[in-house]
Amino acid sequence: MRALVIGGSGQVGAALEKVLVARGHTAVATHHQVARPGTVHLDVRDAAASARVITDVEPDVIFCPAGLTFVDYCEDHPDEAFEANCEAPARAAALAAERGAVFVFFSTEYVFDGRAGPYAEDDPVAPLSVYGRSKLDGERAVMAANVRSLVVRTTVVYGEEPQGKNFIYQLRRRAAAGETSKVPADQRSSPTFNVDLATATVELVEHATHGVVHVAGPSVIDRYAFARMACDVFELDTRLVVPVATADLQQRAARPLNAGLRIDRVRRQITTPLHDPTAGLAAMRATLEGRAVDTTRGHR
Ligand SMILES: NC(=O)c1ccc[n+]([C@@H]2O[C@H](COP(=O)([O-])OP(=O)(O)OC[C@H]3O[C@@H](n4cnc5c(N)ncnc54)[C@H](OP(=O)(O)O)[C@@H]3O)[C@@H](O)[C@H]2O)c1
Repeated sequence: MRALVIGGSGQVGAALEKVLVARGHTAVATHHQVARPGTVHLDVRDAAASARVITDVEPDVIFCPAGLTFVDYCEDHPDEAFEANCEAPARAAALAAERGAVFVFFSTEYVFDGRAGPYAEDDPVAPLSVYGRSKLDGERAVMAANVRSLVVRTTVVYGEEPQGKNFIYQLRRRAAAGETSKVPADQRSSPTFNVDLATATVELVEHATHGVVHVAGPSVIDRYAFARMACDVFELDTRLVVPVATADLQQRAARPLNAGLRIDRVRRQITTPLHDPTAGLAAMRATLEGRAVDTTRGHR
């Protein structure tokens, strides 16, 4: 297939581009503010520019990991959040529909309230934050705009990435500087290896899957436990990781505490392994150190 990846400079988009090419597909990736070699500039909020890029690329499938992902910023800037996470993707989904192309939207476990996780796809949604509401509206808007939409909900994504922004990079940077990291011990979710997420999503599209599908790692653990695993794998000083309650962090936006995503549906549909954090973190380390890594094996 011929794919357009809107948001190809982010951690999910960059992984998608690599996986698409490795599986023999053609991919054009876009950036917004942070170019990578070969990426094309696109601000997806610009309707005319989106139409131009889609016309130029002629995709059969558009992957849209682009979005406003700073949860606390979204809380204070709801108009920006809804534009980036709902209105702009919905317009791109409609443009995809006009040419008969599939549209893949990336959403989040933050559509749930975190009282009774882990959650299956059909469990009742009740977002606690502007970010969660903007993503939920985005899910509904892209599905209304394009019957061939696939909505992939995921959470706590980690792995090697071009901008080095994710939780594991932050933890490593702070540890290298001898600084402590306060990590919530009361937020449970399903850490997800970005290579698995990208591979599983591409496989779902290859199988022409539509609707909402959860793609996440198999273990539901709290953020502190995940940080401890990262310390083990990356040989960081565990004393620098300090468990705290989410409330102590005084973040602008509320977080779902008892969350996590059930992955029974995706497991029935694909053969891509979804690694537990120990295996995913080891693969991340190997990639960062330039060692060959086989991510085709592992727990399903
Ligand atoms: N990471 C997670 O743990 C996680 C968890 C749940 C759901 N998700 C969802 O998964 C998706 C991908 O996440 P990620 O971790 O890859 O995020 P990310 O690393 O922050 O990447 C976001 C991407 O969107 C692009 N972008 C931002 N604003 C844009 C705009 N106006 N027009 C076009 N592109 C724009 C960014 O471009 P530049 O960087 O070039 O500006 C970047 O390529 C997001 O939609 C997020 O909500 C992520």
